Amino acid sequence: MRAHRKTWWSVALSLLVVAMPAWAARPYRGGAVATAHPMASEAALRMLDKGGNAVDAAVAAAFTLAVVGPYHSGLGGGGFALVHDAKTSGTQVLDFREVAPKAATRDMYLKDGQVVPGLSTDGATSVAVPGAVAGYLELLEKHGKLPRAVVLQPAIEAARNGFWVSPKYQALATLRRDCLRQDPEAARIFLAKNEQGELDVPPIGHLVRQPELARTLQTLAKSGPKPFYSGPIAQAMVDTVKAGGGVLSLEDLKDFKTRAHAPLEGSYRGHRILTMPPPSAGGLAVVQVLGALERLRPQGLEFREPETLHLYTEAVRRVYVDRVKYLGDPAFVKIPMESLTSSGYIADLAGSIDPKKATPSASLLPPVEGASGSTLKKPDGTWYDPSSAPEKKNTTHISIIDKNGNAVALTTTVNYAFGSCLVAKGTGILLNDEMDDFAALPGVPNAYGLVTGEANAIAPGKVPLSSMSPTLVFSKEDPKKVMLAVGSPGGSTIPTTVIQVISNLVDHKMDVVRAVGQGRLHHQYLPDELWVDRWGLEAATQAALEAKGHKIRRQEAWGDAEAVYSDPKTNLRYAASDPRNEGAALGQD
Ligand code: DON
Repeated sequence: MRAHRKTWWSVALSLLVVAMPAWAARPYRGGAVATAHPMASEAALRMLDKGGNAVDAAVAAAFTLAVVGPYHSGLGGGGFALVHDAKTSGTQVLDFREVAPKAATRDMYLKDGQVVPGLSTDGATSVAVPGAVAGYLELLEKHGKLPRAVVLQPAIEAARNGFWVSPKYQALATLRRDCLRQDPEAARIFLAKNEQGELDVPPIGHLVRQPELARTLQTLAKSGPKPFYSGPIAQAMVDTVKAGGGVLSLEDLKDFKTRAHAPLEGSYRGHRILTMPPPSAGGLAVVQVLGALERLRPQGLEFREPETLHLYTEAVRRVYVDRVKYLGDPAFVKIPMESLTSSGYIADLAGSIDPKKATPSASLLPPVEGASGSTLKKPDGTWYDPSSAPEKKNTTHISIIDKNGNAVALTTTVNYAFGSCLVAKGTGILLNDEMDDFAALPGVPNAYGLVTGEANAIAPGKVPLSSMSPTLVFSKEDPKKVMLAVGSPGGSTIPTTVIQVISNLVDHKMDVVRAVGQGRLHHQYLPDELWVDRWGLEAATQAALEAKGHKIRRQEAWGDAEAVYSDPKTNLRYAASDPRNEGAALGQD
């Protein structure tokens, strides 16, 4: 593989790296990529090697991930991308997230005023109108250089030849086994016969081949997005969803449109930051929390110091309260973005933090009275406590900076593991369950334990609120030059992952590999708990935080951040695929 070839130059650089422990990661002189699957990173690198730019590489990776990571993303999903063009210094935002079908109603997941667990997470009733195909192909058409057939070729090959089942695939297929078994098509493709002859989680090494998906991809390579939104593929999706009791229609698909937004701008210690505006709640959290931290600690943050972690937690708690109060699809609700990102507002937010003790979440915003349960179903039909969910590292992120400094940060998802577990018959397309990102009933937590408010209630054509936070950080010396492309999966923990990776680089001067691999902390207003991963806290620090009133819960599952760092001084690039996952960071020598 290209990335492992040693040249005199890379040997010399590795010697240099030994002498400079701050930059322990492998440097690349050309473009660099980080994705959650080696085959996707290789697809991206192949495009760069063919003379493609960051967008060609990102789109090749996105289509490949749709094949090899059905548990996190796919043609039946949607997402967000930030694209930076080094020539014009402009950054574009494309929003190709799913929308609610026209026949969706505010109360569609309720019975007798209560949420019915599973309706918004499993099967036909959970499916929103897919946007990924429109989004990926629009990115390519507007910003790419290579022909569509070339860019889709790695995905077609992966679908035809197969990929092998990994420990991660097994873990997520186990989580969704019952759901997958509900749809014979999904079970046939994603499960395998066990010794008893039942379709079950496949063994490690089992080859997943998807000939129908290969055919669908070939059609897209030849004809573009049209057949997906109005041709036979559209018909297959509609028929499958309707047969399962869902409401997707041909009009929904025909009328689907991507949206362009201006990037949300913030800054951290002199670095310009561009991130995702609503309908993501993530970018606002990034801008507000980093803004508050800079105000509270103008001299910088001390690593893992309890007072600092307390301030961070309190800032995050407040930002997630704002999420409940104000955020939803900006085409449907008026969001006071100017005020929420103003320095006065951020100063007030920082100033409201008591440095001595934790503020009970309920005192900031009382939880909705009588709201109980969750949208996530246990096998016995009762609801599941999402904050204790064992494994939720789905969704996926692609970070790329090419040799010319063009950059892409693209986060894409089918939502929960294996989306709705429903495959549109004959097409290989696994459909999303993005409807669960709406507030099924304001106050009742979704699959990520997230509570959202009235602004995120279901309405036809509306985009469900997201946590996905693709982000670009620019060089201090040259605010037009991308220094970091970053993003992550992880549901509600996505924004705090992005915040911590940025802080690790900027405050703690970590190399990008260390910055993504570090332990993490997360709060989300409700449940009123500070989530900490295995490497998040030393015992003494934990005790100091508990003494301030924080209720700490250890979580084992966190999103895998994917990041590319471009050193503004040397112009060398460094890529990091989180060691929590099975991805790969590659680059051009
Ligand atoms: O858009 C969102 O916020 C969610 N659909 C993301 C889902 C996700 O990250 C799943 N992984 N934990």
